[in-house]
Amino acid sequence: MKKVDDFRLTFGKKEFVPIMTGGMGVDISTAELSLVAARLGGIGHISDAMVPTVSDRRFKTGFVKEKQKKYKYNVANRDKSVVQFDLVRLAEATRMHVGRTMEAKKGDGLIFINTMEKLTMGSPRNTLRVRLSAAMDGGIDGITLSAGLHLGSLALVEDHPRFRDVKFGIIVSSLRALTLFLRKSARLNRLPDYIIVEGPLAGGHLGFGMDWAQYDLKTIVDEILRYLKQEELAIPVIPAGGIFTGTDAVEFLEAGASAVQVATRFTVTHECGLPAKVKQEYFKANEEDIEVNLISPTGYPMRMLKNSPAIGSGIRPNCEAYGYLLDATGNCAYIEAYNRELDKHPDEEDISVKDKTCLCTHMRNFDCWTCGHYTYRLKDTTRRLPDGSYELLDAEHVFHDYQFCTEHRIALPGA
Ligand SMILES: Cc1cc2nc3c(=O)[nH]c(=O)nc-3n(C[C@H](O)[C@H](O)[C@H](O)COP(=O)(O)O)c2cc1C
Repeated sequence: MKKVDDFRLTFGKKEFVPIMTGGMGVDISTAELSLVAARLGGIGHISDAMVPTVSDRRFKTGFVKEKQKKYKYNVANRDKSVVQFDLVRLAEATRMHVGRTMEAKKGDGLIFINTMEKLTMGSPRNTLRVRLSAAMDGGIDGITLSAGLHLGSLALVEDHPRFRDVKFGIIVSSLRALTLFLRKSARLNRLPDYIIVEGPLAGGHLGFGMDWAQYDLKTIVDEILRYLKQEELAIPVIPAGGIFTGTDAVEFLEAGASAVQVATRFTVTHECGLPAKVKQEYFKANEEDIEVNLISPTGYPMRMLKNSPAIGSGIRPNCEAYGYLLDATGNCAYIEAYNRELDKHPDEEDISVKDKTCLCTHMRNFDCWTCGHYTYRLKDTTRRLPDGSYELLDAEHVFHDYQFCTEHRIALPGA
């Protein structure tokens, strides 16, 4: 009976426990969580979503206030095109978030950062270049390119001194997306060091349409493994999405995967950034309490708890403070939806916007409870306390449960 610990992920001559904790913005996958994975010999992700905000919370900096003050005059203006990130400040925040995390790293594992292309931040290329460069300056071990095809991302930083030393990976949900990326990276002679294949049961945004249920991770992973073999490309493949037990992971490792990326099981750990009350919502959820909807302004479907306060909320767009989803023309699908409702109900104080949500504000405030498909199984991973709440887990416990699990058995805390 094999367990995850019988396998190793290799990068060059180095070996790692083949468990990667996935990036969860905005600071749901905290530095603390990533540090546990690295200490235990695996790979932990932090996220580069809304780093100035995260830095303010983590280090008591004032990046958000400064930007808000600068653009205060524009708050009532529907046109947000003047709102721009100060690139020097953005680099500073990223270097601090990454640098302090790397300084705290212990053990043989690695820490990567999840970098989403969809965070267009009013100036897509410039802000992405700064975020990637600053993460490398901060000493990050690897960068996972996510939420987008990233066809131009590597070229943005090809002159960085660490371009060939930092591990680069990409998250794809289809062979087609992978081949497009490989074609571009071959031109820079910089193939990815790993490929995360994310299936339709993952949390966060999905790389599928609303027909996500017709796809299955195993089929996509097999197709990608076959393709890489045929092209003689020895790039580690790392499946993600719905891998709930160590035994689920073993099935992928035996089929040729090099590691697994997991996230949902860690959302109910002490180290996860969600507030304690929200972690209880994740525990309590039943299957029918989870939906995939289209309210994210990014255009990607997103999975979340149906009782997320973000759903139906009609708050004023907060782009002067945040503005992470503004496109190059200063637009965001939530601004359009909000203004449409405002025009329809000019006299109402509290309007509701049903089709889109102000994702920046709601993710920042942990009011958009995005989650993986199997969130409804989290209650089976812990004990109920006398007051009816669920006992939070240690990230180390969950990591070890993946590493040593057999026959899909999940170890309860204290076991
Ligand atoms: C709460 C939550 C937030 C997430 N946020 C992001 C994100 O910001 N960027 C990203 O690329 N993936 C995100 N993901 C996806 C995970 O990194 C991971 O690939 C996936 O959820 C793994 O599947 P599992 O949750 O079933 O283990 C998120 C997942 C969860 C559960």
